[in-house]
Amino acid sequence: MPCNCCEITDHAFSEAEAKSEIRAYRRKGPAKQTRLLLEAIRSLNLEDASLLDIGGGIGAIHHELLNDVAAQAMHVDASSAYLKEARQESARRGYSERVNFIHADFTDIEKDVAQADIVTLDRVVCCYPDFRGLLKAAAEHSRTALALTYPREVWYLRIGFKIANFFQSLGKDPFRIFLHPISEMDALLRREGFERVKLHRLFVWEMALYTKPVT
Ligand SMILES: C[S@@+](CC[C@H](N)C(=O)[O-])C[C@H]1O[C@@H](n2cnc3c(N)ncnc32)[C@H](O)[C@@H]1O
Repeated sequence: MPCNCCEITDHAFSEAEAKSEIRAYRRKGPAKQTRLLLEAIRSLNLEDASLLDIGGGIGAIHHELLNDVAAQAMHVDASSAYLKEARQESARRGYSERVNFIHADFTDIEKDVAQADIVTLDRVVCCYPDFRGLLKAAAEHSRTALALTYPREVWYLRIGFKIANFFQSLGKDPFRIFLHPISEMDALLRREGFERVKLHRLFVWEMALYTKPVT
């Protein structure tokens, strides 16, 4: 599905937004749904792992996992403003050498990206129209675990997203948020050989951890 993702997300995830998120992260640490995702990954007791963080934003997941679980990380993001903040924070933490940053729509460059032990998509599928293409590509890049957060399919979000998208269209902004069908995302990941080993619900976000069964 054509998307112009970098252009659209560069506009949607602006410098002002990126700066405000990095300030919040420095003050309070990762957001609640991100903390759930981090806890889930840490429960797998992996060490020296490689991490592929798709749509990592200001980079909270790799800033945190490089402290213990991960040896190296790749952060692919369609927003240049978020990548800039993520890169600066990595440098501040002394992790620059261990993170590779790529500005792209992951589905455009996935063929050039190596597999990783852990793949993460924290609040990413809801920003992307073709969740099937994105999730399939993500799954194909994971050797061991895939963790994601996405909005719950509940009435108050259905209404909220409709209103948000209405205002986006009024403002002639092409960016949209999506409430993708969770059962379809789950079925797709199972077809790719994963099983869901953790599921946690918050008011807005759901976090799911998938792993490949050891054969
Ligand atoms: C709502 S933000 C979430 C950022 C971060 N993961 C977090 O939870 O704070 C969505 C991010 O996904 C990125 N994104 C969306 N679709 C993408 C794609 N197909 N390829 C790469 N990045 C994508 C956007 O640029 C943005 O940085």
